[in-house]
Amino acid sequence: MSEIKKLSLLFSKEKIDIKITELAEEISKSYNSREPILIGVLNGSFIFLADLIRKLSISCTLDFIKASSYSGFLSTGKVELVKDISVDIKNRHVILVEDIIDSGATIKFLRKHLMNFVPRSFSIVTLLKRQKTANLDFPIDFIGFEVKEEFVVGFGLDFDQKYRNLGAIYTLNQYFKKNELERG
Ligand code: IMP
Ligand code: MG
Repeated sequence: MSEIKKLSLLFSKEKIDIKITELAEEISKSYNSREPILIGVLNGSFIFLADLIRKLSISCTLDFIKASSYSGFLSTGKVELVKDISVDIKNRHVILVEDIIDSGATIKFLRKHLMNFVPRSFSIVTLLKRQKTANLDFPIDFIGFEVKEEFVVGFGLDFDQKYRNLGAIYTLNQYFKKNELERG
């Protein structure tokens, strides 16, 4: 059964760039003289984070964490820590940086994990958030764009580890040729 994948542009490079500039201004204002540490959630956030820090007008430091829950289109529902942070965040102002918040399971898991290190403050910035994300008992402080149900790729976001290198954000539709033919 052969598959056909179709990409449709959702957010252009220009639109993403403007949004990240706005987010960086907001964060720079909120964290003025607090020297936050930005913790990027690997792998998806690496491009967003790279653009975001270069637009911040304040001093900051950086680290990464990695969790996994997804395989292809589907969330496995079980979140696992794959790589922990490698610096001490006790008493630090932490900003967790995500590519997309879908069900919220990953961010919930990572927040709980990082809170054990007793940071002075904790906030979350995400480039994308699904409209349907269930109510979380903590805020998502900075949100780039809200997205619907469609699966999105590009600008760091993947499908089976591919498409991360695309400069803009696309929706990915997958058709199975055989099914299409069967449907007539
Ligand atoms: P959650 O735990 O359901 O909130 O899923 C969060 C993670 O799933 C994100 O960090 C992404 O890595 C991945 N993910 C969810 N939706 C998409 C998507 O549409 N495209 C690419 N990755 C996604
Ligand atoms: Mg991710």
